[in-house]
Amino acid sequence: MAAEAMPAQTASETYILGIETSCDDTSIALVTSNGKVQAIETVSQFDIHAGYGGIYPELASRAHVAAILPALETVLDRSAVSLAQIQAIAVTRGPGLIGALLVGINTATALGLAWDKPVLGVNHLRGHLRSAELEGHKVTYPAVVLLVSGGHSLIAHMRSPHDMVLLGQTRDDSVGEAFDKVARMLDLGFPGGPIIDKLAAEGADTMGFPRPMLHAGYEFSFSGLKSAVRRAIELDPALSRPDACASFAAACFDVLIKKCERGLTETKASSLVVVGGVAASRPLRARMQDLTERLGVTLNLPPAQWAPDNGAMIALAGWDLWRTKNGSLDDQTPIAADPSLSLEKL
Ligand code: KG4
Ligand code: ZN
Repeated sequence: MAAEAMPAQTASETYILGIETSCDDTSIALVTSNGKVQAIETVSQFDIHAGYGGIYPELASRAHVAAILPALETVLDRSAVSLAQIQAIAVTRGPGLIGALLVGINTATALGLAWDKPVLGVNHLRGHLRSAELEGHKVTYPAVVLLVSGGHSLIAHMRSPHDMVLLGQTRDDSVGEAFDKVARMLDLGFPGGPIIDKLAAEGADTMGFPRPMLHAGYEFSFSGLKSAVRRAIELDPALSRPDACASFAAACFDVLIKKCERGLTETKASSLVVVGGVAASRPLRARMQDLTERLGVTLNLPPAQWAPDNGAMIALAGWDLWRTKNGSLDDQTPIAADPSLSLEKL
């Protein structure tokens, strides 16, 4: 459970309550229109899924049911925000696990009825994009956006916040998924990203793993790299875990850096946005910093604790919808869960 310190608030400030339950984090947050996170509570399910080496969907749904109301209570108690200050409730409607999404949507719908507040269905991927603007940072456009999470790996060109062209995405595994699977092969635990990230700092890139699709366009492919790690383990089951982690992470990051560099050069975008759970990686953040300094463009990263899934980014994306609808309650329809909602859709 992760509780954040409470910034000062004034009675005139207004908030959106963000609810995120698309995968294995139950997260609820109160966020102002300019991205100040007043209170957040995130309950992760790592212990529940650790034994399976990945997310077990039915267990995820049940854990969301158990966690969501206590998390809500914690956020409301801790924030001292009155109901009158809450403008709307924003909830992830997709993409994600259907059962998990429904727990958030049903809770948001019930709260909307009980509190007489509008409920806004948010695209989780749009939430990740907005995570770079939490705590008052402003993304400048045109931008190249790299989204690297457990569910997605894609690169897009955004001429403005509302004008997005997908440049490429993964043909197979996402980066986060590859981290999780490699960690499983090395018996390191779940989720793999933070564990590999930590161990890699003690090792070196000595294993010569391939850099898949480095020189080809904007698509990614990580399954060959994963197989290369598997072969290395088969050849030497006692291989150095830190070196294997450092070599695997370096191969992934070389590809990500190259695609971002290509995107920035070809589109002439003046800023780079890197979001999603993998954007919590310290070495990736440092390498993106070097890249953007070298190219003379602005780097936009979410605060590291809000790179992985959280309710704050959903609330901030909810503010976009709120502005679009101008706060109107007239066109409220039931929020439909969409497990495969794409980035282009709101
Ligand atoms: O964005 P996220 O929380 O969930 C999805 O929307 O999928 O991303 C989760 C992914 C996991 O695969 C996890 O291993 C990875 O992000 N991750 C990391 C780090 N922290 C989380 N990967 C590399 N380094 C990290 N520090
Ligand atoms: Zn996510």
